Amino acid sequence: MADKSTKQGSGLIIRQKEPNNLETPVDRVDSFLTPTELFYVRSHSPAPKLEPASYRLQVDGAVRSPLSLTYTELRAMPAETHVAILECAGNGRVFLVPQVQGAQWELGAVGNAEWTGVPLCALLERAGLEEDACEIVLEGADRGVPKEGAIPPGQVSYARSLPRAKALQREVLIAYQMNGRDLSQDHGCPVRAIVPGHYGMASVKWLTRIYAVREPFQGYWQTSDYGYWDYVDGQPVRRALGEMKLKSEIFRPTVYETLAPNQAYTMFGAAWAGETEVTEVSVSTDGGQTWAQAEFVDPVQRYAWRRWIFDWVTPKKPGQYTLLSRAKDANGNVQPDKHDENYATYVIDHVLPIEVTIGNPWS
Ligand code: MTE
Repeated sequence: MADKSTKQGSGLIIRQKEPNNLETPVDRVDSFLTPTELFYVRSHSPAPKLEPASYRLQVDGAVRSPLSLTYTELRAMPAETHVAILECAGNGRVFLVPQVQGAQWELGAVGNAEWTGVPLCALLERAGLEEDACEIVLEGADRGVPKEGAIPPGQVSYARSLPRAKALQREVLIAYQMNGRDLSQDHGCPVRAIVPGHYGMASVKWLTRIYAVREPFQGYWQTSDYGYWDYVDGQPVRRALGEMKLKSEIFRPTVYETLAPNQAYTMFGAAWAGETEVTEVSVSTDGGQTWAQAEFVDPVQRYAWRRWIFDWVTPKKPGQYTLLSRAKDANGNVQPDKHDENYATYVIDHVLPIEVTIGNPWS
């Protein structure tokens, strides 16, 4: 399928040096699972150094028997392994015109990995979750001074909540391994949450506390940042981002790549959805005038991406061409043509134009 394999030595793209914000070069990823070395990193504060030997995970709040687990105790609990995609809610932000604030992600703030850990529901069951707890807050050990939206004075630790029903879904993991190896520092060592089907911000890294609450959590990372505007009786109200939207991306060719005229070329990409399944990907090589179906490489696997290919013969006529891909899901949704402004700098789920040049690169 691939004309370029995951080459040794191809690395991540720096979007911010400190804290580490690193993008996957998606054109280098052929495999179903994104290799850990090429998996994007999105961190708001420098990665805290947590030693497994002294690590403790607190489970408290609206529970009958609060827990304080060591790393060894957590690893002794029955574990599960699931494949899940992580996509940063700001993935694709560089395509927004005019330019907006935030890390200028192109197409690679997304990856598909295999995660191993203890289902969050098993921990909540062990702690005796109270009937009236409505949300579960996940808190990381990293702290920093936020930059966007309404900013509280001083440092804030990274914390996000999940609705009770989502938190109790078996696939939500308190993970300690990624692609069969213990978590690296950048990906949340020693323990992180993995919330399949939700944007990456929900998968809290360097997780040290899980607490159940009886009122909706209104923390900075839940409202001021990683929120969007919804409308109730005509009034805009703030809601927390959650489920990922249906999306497809073209990984190859890359933006502004030059391709030879009249050549067989296999376009390659991936598509994913939140709590549903991607059923179709269509491709246009003429800026949206005509569309044809792409072929899936992967079968449906809930919460994982589906890679796709499309065999194309590049035009004979040199010039600029716009390539598009559009996914459809099992509920009949299709990717929109435009970005929804209620999401501001997030949820860039619309059909993204990949502009390429047909011609000789040196002429
Ligand atoms: N967890 C903590 N504690 N701090 C963070 O800054 N970033 C979140 C999430 N978990 C973050 C965090 C965001 S925005 C994303 S997209 C994912 O982690 C990225 O996970 P990765 O760096 O392993 O790819």
